[in-house]
Amino acid sequence: HKRIGILTSGGDCPGLNAVIRGVVKASSQLGYDCVGFLKGYEGLYDPVRYITLTHKNTSGILNQGGTILGSTNKGRFAATVGVADRVEIDPELLAGVKHTIDQLNIAGLVCIGGDGSLAVAQQFHEYGIPVVGVPKTIDNDLSATAFTFGFDSAVECATNALDRLHTTAASHERIMVIELMGRHAGWIALHAGIAGGGDVILLPEIGWTYENVCHKILDRESHGKRFSLVVVAEGAELPDGGLVGEEQSGAQAKLGGIGQIVAAEIERRLHREVRVSVLGHLQRGGAPTTFDRVLATQYGAHAVRLIVQGRLGEMVCYHPPEIESVPIIKAVNKLRTVEHHGSAVQAARALGISFGDCPA
Ligand code: F6P
Repeated sequence: HKRIGILTSGGDCPGLNAVIRGVVKASSQLGYDCVGFLKGYEGLYDPVRYITLTHKNTSGILNQGGTILGSTNKGRFAATVGVADRVEIDPELLAGVKHTIDQLNIAGLVCIGGDGSLAVAQQFHEYGIPVVGVPKTIDNDLSATAFTFGFDSAVECATNALDRLHTTAASHERIMVIELMGRHAGWIALHAGIAGGGDVILLPEIGWTYENVCHKILDRESHGKRFSLVVVAEGAELPDGGLVGEEQSGAQAKLGGIGQIVAAEIERRLHREVRVSVLGHLQRGGAPTTFDRVLATQYGAHAVRLIVQGRLGEMVCYHPPEIESVPIIKAVNKLRTVEHHGSAVQAARALGISFGDCPA
């Protein structure tokens, strides 16, 4: 029987299950069976681990966070995961994966992942393994698509947190620093900062100084606003040039990330009460927003269409208002970061939000 395979690779995000469900439903309409490989690429080889996906075991997962297939960004394919220079996958692994795909009669493997995972999919494609890609990351930093699913859900969570911080900040006339995810790109901080009424937004893409941040806070105070919300993307660079995002991810983050550092320095300079919140993986969990459900479902259906049309090596993408596709190679190894002159940054500046790069 002809089959379509699916796997979820890299950090999870809301909407993965919606894509899985979309693929299963769309492929069954066309007479394909579906198998889901477990723990990302790991399930493809030695030992091969997969489950048959049916209407029954994918029913009710549309609004569930996480992934029923599990995921990993470690393991044997990890050397290629990340934005580092391309690392060739061990040919023995590639041969093993090809064998699995042939044995299971898989017409196409839907690889749902971010930049690093899609770079693996590209190498599969070059080796003759039939793949299509689906872009996924809460960071929204993938090239060749306007939106990845998971981003809207993460922004929703972060905005909610800002709303909550707002009331307590105002009541106590405090400065609140909130650290949001975004290792290489500040999309979550930018969008949540705008949606949640942030006063200062610090991004990896825009250099900033403490003088400018403090100037903004004092300027607000001179207008009677004795509280401020400072939104910091985890990948923002400290003024002295130390890039903390990469270094402080994982275990080190527990010791104090950029949010803590920024809060301590503002407190030292202004002698004001500053509190810090690190939202962390709350941004990655929970139910997808309606936008992400619709996007993920469309991605799933379109991925199946690509396989059926023999358009292997392509990745689904969103060019509003349409779902389209591009060769995977065009989407990997170059992240889409926040443009200094992009419309969201411009709008934020027009409203008086400070990026810490100039005194006003
Ligand atoms: O890329 C998604 C992301 O959530 C980043 O925003 C964050 O830096 C990273 O993953 C965290 O990774 P981990 O869950 O492995 O600590």
